[in-house]
Amino acid sequence: MKLNIVRPFLPNISEIQDSFGECLANGMVTNNSAHVRLFEENLQHYFQSKHKPLVFNNGEMALFHLIQAWKYKLGASSHEHFGVLVPSFTFSGTINAIVSNNLKPVFCDINETLTIDITKVSSEFLKENDVKICLAVGVYGNLPDIELLEVFCIKNGLILLFDNAPAFASTFKGKFPNHYGFDEIYSFHATKIYNSMEGGAAIVHDEETYQILSRLREFGQFEKVRGDVDIPGLNSKMQEISAIVGNKNLEKIDFILDNRKQNIDKYKPFFSDLETKGFIRNMKVLSEVFCPYLYYPIILHEEATQFVKYMEENEIAVRRYYTACHSLTCYKGKYAESSLSFTESIKDNIVSLPIHTIMNQEEIDYLFNTISKYFKS
Ligand SMILES: Cc1ncc(COP(=O)(O)O)c(C=O)c1O
Repeated sequence: MKLNIVRPFLPNISEIQDSFGECLANGMVTNNSAHVRLFEENLQHYFQSKHKPLVFNNGEMALFHLIQAWKYKLGASSHEHFGVLVPSFTFSGTINAIVSNNLKPVFCDINETLTIDITKVSSEFLKENDVKICLAVGVYGNLPDIELLEVFCIKNGLILLFDNAPAFASTFKGKFPNHYGFDEIYSFHATKIYNSMEGGAAIVHDEETYQILSRLREFGQFEKVRGDVDIPGLNSKMQEISAIVGNKNLEKIDFILDNRKQNIDKYKPFFSDLETKGFIRNMKVLSEVFCPYLYYPIILHEEATQFVKYMEENEIAVRRYYTACHSLTCYKGKYAESSLSFTESIKDNIVSLPIHTIMNQEEIDYLFNTISKYFKS
């Protein structure tokens, strides 16, 4: 049996061909056309957000522009380099979006939830590094304690933003992160639990940020006659085909989440048992958090190379994901770091296992049996 790392959840061609056929026939394939506008309405209904989510061509551009919008709101010139507190343990895209805005990532640690740990970050450290934004990341769909993070950000005068690219549908105390009053982004990439093939969205709170972001994704244009621009935006509009797929998949979000919950309920006891027997450690999920598990991370007690090789030999694809970005070639030694002791202790030992929306019992049994054999448990 072969298990891929992801199995994108996509509609059948018959479910989308009429809509896409119409777009091709009338030439309205992009530029904020009907399906994109409907997608934003449907997402607003799903998130019950104050403003319509703004959709983008991908999650990274949504994040890049969200940071750019805040930089502008904070009155910083495009050449100013203030600090953005961010966990090192994330996807390179998080850090690239900061650096591409000419800002400085200021790396901090994570805790057992694998999300940001602010307990090791002092006010002096933030001041020394001129930190103005705190960017939390919902790795694997997990969330930190949002209320604690809010207190920390208020105390230190930081703007709190969320890179929730992997955390569609995740909640804290039953509410989406944007209900706590913070701006966030999502990715709708094909690998995500909910997808539009490529795509992303930013959900923001005030009218000003909303207007800035609407302009940024269209080159920064504030008027269309001459195409005059007031901030240098980059074209990051979503195409109609993605919105059509996004709308279709959103109709099935309950089905997606129900399936994932059933699979998570099977994974959890198996991996808790391995933890009790001392073979691995699991990611902690706070009791207030709903995590839909984009991948199922396990932390080995040793470096993961041998385990990864064994899984590959058994045709189960795994990923060494997420990663410690402060050690990536492009970022190594270049930016300030607070204590990264937890990140350092897990970065070479963590492995993401597949957990698909559609997965039959035979596949789950194969995964569990293969892992049991490895640990001889
Ligand atoms: C934490 C994080 N940020 C940003 C991104 C970028 O999203 P996209 O692939 O839609 O550009 C990802 C995608 O995997 C991610 O996991």
